[in-house]
Amino acid sequence: MAEVKTFYITTPIYYPSNKLHVGNSYTTVAADAIARFKRLTGYRVWFLTGTDEHGQKIQRQAEAAGKAPRVFVDEIVAWIKELWDELDIEYDDFIRTTEDRHKDKVAQIFTAFHEQGDIYKGRYEGRYCTPCEAYWTERQLVDGNCPDCGREVELISEEAYFFRMSNYAQRLIDHIEANPDFIQPPSRKNEMINNFLKPGLEDLCVSRTSFDWGIPVPFDQDHVIYVWLDALSNYITALGYGEEGSIYETFWPADVQLIGKDILRFHTIYWPIFLMALNQPLPKTVFGHGWLMLQEGKMSKSKGNAIDPRVLADRYSSDALRYFLLREIPFGQDGIFSLENFINRINTDLANDLGNLVSRTLTMAERYFDGVLPEPTVDDGNTDQELRSLALETPSNVEVYTSQLKISDALAELWKLVKRSNKYIDENTPWDLAKDPANVGRLGTVIYNLIESIRFTAVILQPFMPRTPKSIFEQLGIEAESDMQGWASLKRWGMMKPGSVVSRGDDLFPRLNLQAEIREMQADKPVADDADQTEEHEGLISLDQFQQVDLRVAEVIAAEKIPKADKLLKVEVVIGDNDRRQVVAGIAEHYQPDELIGKHVLFVSNLKPVKLRGVLSQGMLLAATANDGRLALTTVDRDMPSGSRVS
Ligand code: MSP
Repeated sequence: MAEVKTFYITTPIYYPSNKLHVGNSYTTVAADAIARFKRLTGYRVWFLTGTDEHGQKIQRQAEAAGKAPRVFVDEIVAWIKELWDELDIEYDDFIRTTEDRHKDKVAQIFTAFHEQGDIYKGRYEGRYCTPCEAYWTERQLVDGNCPDCGREVELISEEAYFFRMSNYAQRLIDHIEANPDFIQPPSRKNEMINNFLKPGLEDLCVSRTSFDWGIPVPFDQDHVIYVWLDALSNYITALGYGEEGSIYETFWPADVQLIGKDILRFHTIYWPIFLMALNQPLPKTVFGHGWLMLQEGKMSKSKGNAIDPRVLADRYSSDALRYFLLREIPFGQDGIFSLENFINRINTDLANDLGNLVSRTLTMAERYFDGVLPEPTVDDGNTDQELRSLALETPSNVEVYTSQLKISDALAELWKLVKRSNKYIDENTPWDLAKDPANVGRLGTVIYNLIESIRFTAVILQPFMPRTPKSIFEQLGIEAESDMQGWASLKRWGMMKPGSVVSRGDDLFPRLNLQAEIREMQADKPVADDADQTEEHEGLISLDQFQQVDLRVAEVIAAEKIPKADKLLKVEVVIGDNDRRQVVAGIAEHYQPDELIGKHVLFVSNLKPVKLRGVLSQGMLLAATANDGRLALTTVDRDMPSGSRVS
């Protein structure tokens, strides 16, 4: 008997510090699509996700909410599980780091490290970023702040256990060099080697004493285990590492560990070193994907600018959201999430391309053949041939891209077939064929081929959008457990049985009105009448256009005259804590440089940078000008923090 191929894929385990946003969902949707694809193509799959529940950040947030940490995380974890259900995330296991099965193993791992001399006791004096739960040296800080998230770091001084990272650094460098698939995409590899490994790896602090929400060090109860050592171990504790007969033996090492690029260092340096210390094989691939950004920067739970994926899924369907996340951004790169891009994708790819193909074809099958699938008898040797061979090539093309984690390319490949099928309708103009009964053989063949091509599309689409294919199969009269939904049914063209009954259902994706959606989602107002939307308002701009301008409160921190330019000042401002900009402002005749310092002014922060008199200008200060030429900078009516949004 042939051995069943196995596949183990993981997502990061999320901090249940707040509800997850669409950026976090991105990783999990991608992992789910890959896991489903592997299942569809015959692998025995294990897909793990979960939550990272200990640490100072969670403890503080629970305190701020006036709740015990356990109660606090329980509520958010319940919400996260509902989100995954809503997005059809079919995980095999969900690990919570507060579960005994995890805590006991981590305590054992820590003890083993200590006993074998990898861990020693010392004192940590240095910087700590609580939001990232990361230690930093003075040298690594950027403008005194955390190099990863830009927020303030704390000075901590406490007794701690350390892990001798340096003992393993060379082995890790050798492993990375010898295994090009280990860090993906390849561009991320050099960053790790050059920035962290080559300069010399410092020993890592692996325990804390100033709070207690964590796994206690078994032999020294004043310490809790550092949250990243605790969290990273989840990938093996969840498999039952150390227990005889557990699925650990079947699934470890992981085939793919998906993470965001911000936590690459933990997964490609500390994690492999812990595994080396345990004498265990390293994951085959750690893939660091890019970020989903908003126009104004990275989305994050703590910035409060996050988009709630459940709101999007409720309104537009979970399949539409999954499709957008998987298709819009080449996996590995950063991409922008905007409602406009999302709606456009729904309208073009889902409503126009896929939805129309299905509804046009089924309408014609009903109109010309009463929904009874005709026999294909008259092949034109041309368009039929092309459609057929493209359909037969598509499964393996999609499989190659998916196994390379190029999910966006995989979907683009599938859409070639959808588009080719639409073109086939236009080439064969069934409505013309239907005019002459002599063409019935050809007309039947065209309809048959379209239905078979739609079946191919639906089979391949299942891992990416689990709901839509179900509706398509129903329209094609294919039952849930039928082989015709399976991968093997794509080996041959012509599995649809002539004589079977098809029937048109509801439109898969009704077209959306972009402006109405923007208005309703962003301004939280009901959708106005169509008449109102189409009325011409000369010279007026839409709310959408206005909202493209990113207006902020900025604090002036320096100003000086620009030599040989009587009207211009070079003004330096800061937006928020650390976004510094310099601008060239035409206000020298109205303000002395010194009187500007400390002012909170209104600022256009998303203007393209320009050079004025050779000086870089990265934005614009807003000022009012009277008819008599007087000028005043615009400020805010009350004391508002720099960085506040103006709208
Ligand atoms: N708890 C740690 C992970 C421990 S894994 C052993 C953690 N949690 S997190 O909740 O802050 O982030 C989880 C994942 O979400 C990370 O991979 C991070 O990169 C990803 N993302 C957070 N914001 C994101 C976007 N805006 N876009 C894409 N991914 C994003 O880190």
